[in-house]
Amino acid sequence: MKFSLNVDHVATLRNARGEGQPDPVTFALMAEKYGVDGIVVHLREDRRHINERDVRLLRELITTKLDLEMSVNPGIIEIACKIKPELSTLVPEHRQELTTEGGLNVIDNLDKLRAVIDKLHNADIPVSLFIEPDIEQIDAAVGIGADVIEIHTGKFANAKTEDEMFDELDRIRIAVKHAKKLGLGVNAGHGLDYNNVKDFMEIDGVDEVSIGHAVISYSLFVGLENAIKEMQTLLKIR
Ligand code: PXP
Repeated sequence: MKFSLNVDHVATLRNARGEGQPDPVTFALMAEKYGVDGIVVHLREDRRHINERDVRLLRELITTKLDLEMSVNPGIIEIACKIKPELSTLVPEHRQELTTEGGLNVIDNLDKLRAVIDKLHNADIPVSLFIEPDIEQIDAAVGIGADVIEIHTGKFANAKTEDEMFDELDRIRIAVKHAKKLGLGVNAGHGLDYNNVKDFMEIDGVDEVSIGHAVISYSLFVGLENAIKEMQTLLKIR
């Protein structure tokens, strides 16, 4: 299992003052030094955290890999085609939301998503689709040429009861197995933290997790190196 760190919320903190610190690019470079396998950022249409300067510098400076999350907005896709991240992850995006609220509905947006995937593939960029752990959505993702899926773990992370949590874990387990059988890369993320990741580790076959808020928050208390190392221990990376 690999662990990529989402540094969006370092930019959130920087933007709170409209000045330069804390710099998400420097933070990402330090995270690499402490052993993360990749850096994830979401370039949102409203640029509420990460901006184009961040993405440009990350592209130039990081030595692991860049996963650029984005909507299907044509302007953002253009930027991705120029930046050429190692992976582009398409996510649904609504202006009013605090964070991404669920997976893409691939089935209802086949033509639109296929066109975007083709465009990114023409720029030699592999594409991941952020979706719910749902067999039909996975089949649709394969059908339009996705290379990877990222399974939305938000419902698992926010489950109110143990039963709900284990039901969602079962859905994820079945989805991962199905996606692997179809030859897809399988990532997962949203809401994973130092408590729930232990149960999540019961799932086999996930290639990579993308975690942001929990690790960035904990790093304020214990420092980035410790926050990363503790998560790596839970993920059985070290
Ligand atoms: N994966 C996707 C597609 C996301 O949109 C987010 C949130 O930005 C994450 C993973 C990371 O979620 P969290 O910050 O809750 O760890």
